[in-house]
Amino acid sequence: MNRTIHPSGPLRGEIRIPGDKSISHRAVMFGALAEGMTEASHFLMSADCLSTIFCFEKLGVRTEIDRDADTVRVYGRGLHSLTAPDSVLYTGNSGTTTRLISGILAGQAFDSVLTGDSSVCSRPMNRVIRPLTGMGASVRSKNNNGCCPLHISGRNLHGIDYMSPVASAQVKSCILLAGLYADAETSVTEPALSRNHTELMLSGFGACVRSDKTNDGWKASIQPEPSLKGQSLSVPGDISSAAYFIAAALLVPGSEVLIRNVGINPTRAGIIEVVRSMGGSIELINKTAQGGEPAADILVRHSPLRGTVIEGDHIPALIDELPVCAVMAAFADGRTEIRDAAELKVKESDRISSTTEALSSMGCHITATDDGMIIEGGRPLHGAEIDSRKDHRIAMSMAVAALAAEGETTIRDAECIDISYPEFYQDMQSLAE
Ligand code: S3P
Repeated sequence: MNRTIHPSGPLRGEIRIPGDKSISHRAVMFGALAEGMTEASHFLMSADCLSTIFCFEKLGVRTEIDRDADTVRVYGRGLHSLTAPDSVLYTGNSGTTTRLISGILAGQAFDSVLTGDSSVCSRPMNRVIRPLTGMGASVRSKNNNGCCPLHISGRNLHGIDYMSPVASAQVKSCILLAGLYADAETSVTEPALSRNHTELMLSGFGACVRSDKTNDGWKASIQPEPSLKGQSLSVPGDISSAAYFIAAALLVPGSEVLIRNVGINPTRAGIIEVVRSMGGSIELINKTAQGGEPAADILVRHSPLRGTVIEGDHIPALIDELPVCAVMAAFADGRTEIRDAAELKVKESDRISSTTEALSSMGCHITATDDGMIIEGGRPLHGAEIDSRKDHRIAMSMAVAALAAEGETTIRDAECIDISYPEFYQDMQSLAE
């Protein structure tokens, strides 16, 4: 489906964005492994999170989805009572489902096959195959290309002390979940701190998890656990989804938008610092916290922006927001450089190439580098036909660019936003009225 977007008048009012995708996935997974019921309210009912639910249903876990109340109930089976799936586990477009569930399947007493759509099947899985094999599991890439489909034979696992070459919450979480089934402590050290929802949430479910800064990087450790306990949790709004409204309000003259109850965990909230460094008006109000996850309302007003540099240890805290940061940079005065972000190449699309191509076609002076982008901002953008590459974050980022550009923009395969934010276009429309 194509979607046509026109330049917008001021965006004004309040918005409550859907629940956090990373936390919603984990609520289902950890709930499935816990004793008793887990109830997650303000759960994100998007295609990716439904992929996680369907996979666990195939593993014998009963769930109840209440769409009207945005609530999911997961009736946990405990760590050792998942049942062998009767067919392939299909993870759709979801890298998080694929990598995290691999760690769980590595500890089961049965075999499973895991695959996803063409994007998931082109994403690197050696980053989880290697440590899981090191723990004693048998994980084979069926086509011997380091990608899905994966054939996983669960085994008795050994504790491992793994140095991850990349800062990746998916890799870290996969290893920690396998560590629940190991015979001794398991730890994973990453070069910079990636999102820490797994550490916080597993602690809430009763696991013994530590996180320490060491000379080698950030080390997360877990003890093998006899049992986890089901929890009730309220999922905060997803800052990755809020990012599109933060950017739109900054870019469209006359805008003022209040975004309610957004998760501002410091391992996720890098975009707030970037907006400040670009001179944008952004305020955090009504701060709260639940289960170790801080949240706040975010008030954003239209502001002139200036270029900035985004690099180093800050990258994991806004990795999914870099395409929309590039859009902000296109409208900012001066040059913006994004460095140390080679991970962008292995997301739902190669986001260095998809962002660069899309913004160039709108008239932006943007250059791809090996690990980021250089954007010469400040020229007006014009409407164009954009290939979203079926990547939800590219479709939404370019929809924001279209609001502040001149003329009409068409986004191809625009329905891919269902992966993380099915009501995105309606919510955007509601602020423009
Ligand atoms: C996620 C981790 C990140 C992020 C993804 C969600 C998670 O991936 O890009 O959208 O929920 O753990 P990496 O771990 O590959 O950086």
